[in-house]
Amino acid sequence: MLILGIESSCDETGVALVRDGHEVISNALASQAEVHARFGGVVPEVAARQQLMAFIPVLEVALAQAGVDWNGIDAVAATYGPGLAGPLLVGLTAAKSIAFARGLTFLGVNHLEAHLYANWLHRQGEPHHAPHFPVLSLLVSGAHSELIVIREHGRYALLGQTRDDAAGEAFDKVARMLGLSYPGGPSIQRSAATWPIDQPLPVKVPRAWLRGTNDFSFSGVKTYIANLLRNPDHPPIAAIAAAFQEAIVDVLATKTVAAAKAIGAAEVVLAGGVAANVALRERLESDLRRLHISLRAPRIEWCTDNAAMIAGAAYYHLRRGESSDLSLDVLPSLALPLAQA
Ligand code: KG4
Ligand code: ZN
Repeated sequence: MLILGIESSCDETGVALVRDGHEVISNALASQAEVHARFGGVVPEVAARQQLMAFIPVLEVALAQAGVDWNGIDAVAATYGPGLAGPLLVGLTAAKSIAFARGLTFLGVNHLEAHLYANWLHRQGEPHHAPHFPVLSLLVSGAHSELIVIREHGRYALLGQTRDDAAGEAFDKVARMLGLSYPGGPSIQRSAATWPIDQPLPVKVPRAWLRGTNDFSFSGVKTYIANLLRNPDHPPIAAIAAAFQEAIVDVLATKTVAAAKAIGAAEVVLAGGVAANVALRERLESDLRRLHISLRAPRIEWCTDNAAMIAGAAYYHLRRGESSDLSLDVLPSLALPLAQA
């Protein structure tokens, strides 16, 4: 089954073609990050307009890369939430129009579920085996920080979540305080990497452990760093960036490892934009190796928003005979449908 996936929930326009939920045939993306960088964050109206301008060119690239014509495509899937209403509307309307015009099956996809399914993707010609259930997933993006158990396709149970800021939100806000560019995750990672490995960090950022729970809290870190910066003799920016990243990674990794042990996870998977963080990937990989649990993380380009993951997640719904009506509207605060743990 060849599925055309469309992603437009925020500031990335993506169109991809994926076969049977795992084989990525093409994956085109236009990022608006530069447009929003001078505002220090995403401006929703600007994002919607940029989506409109980028959609057709990105679609053309995805089709050309794949070398298929419309007759080879079986279904069209697009994100319908969560995300920004205006940007979502562009991709969803495009998907419905294509489905209507070509007489194709249409499916609305939950963006959060799609992030998880990035772990089922592989490139054409690469060997692949699907994750083994039960899967413990750490979903960390700009708006979400959640520990979710997946016992079978489509069945999600929430183990823990952030009580305030999401991990990506903390990266973005702290980057802004440090004078680093938007998006904050990659710029903090770059700045932290300039701090010499053999030199001890002159600052330690406190962790909120919330012991006895699988929950996270990242808002205290912001206050701590704001206070630090108030002192004109504060440590170098690279040292603060490294200490901040270390604190976030420490909490995420420690809690993920504990939850993986508790549920007897066969595999741990990372998902969402923060999963692109190299320090997080390395730390979890080595902590889990000691427990003989394997870690899976999507390729970096499939961690942040993209359309391959949309087409990937769509497959498992379409395979069960599900589809959406063309009257489906965007749902900016859509949540992951949850089952009992
Ligand atoms: O999944 P995503 O692309 O969009 C949402 O659905 O939210 O995640 C975006 C978030 C941003 O907060 C960004 O700063 C963060 O992911 N991010 C990173 C890295 N790359 C992106 N955070 C830490 N390290 C990175 N390398
Ligand atoms: Zn996302």
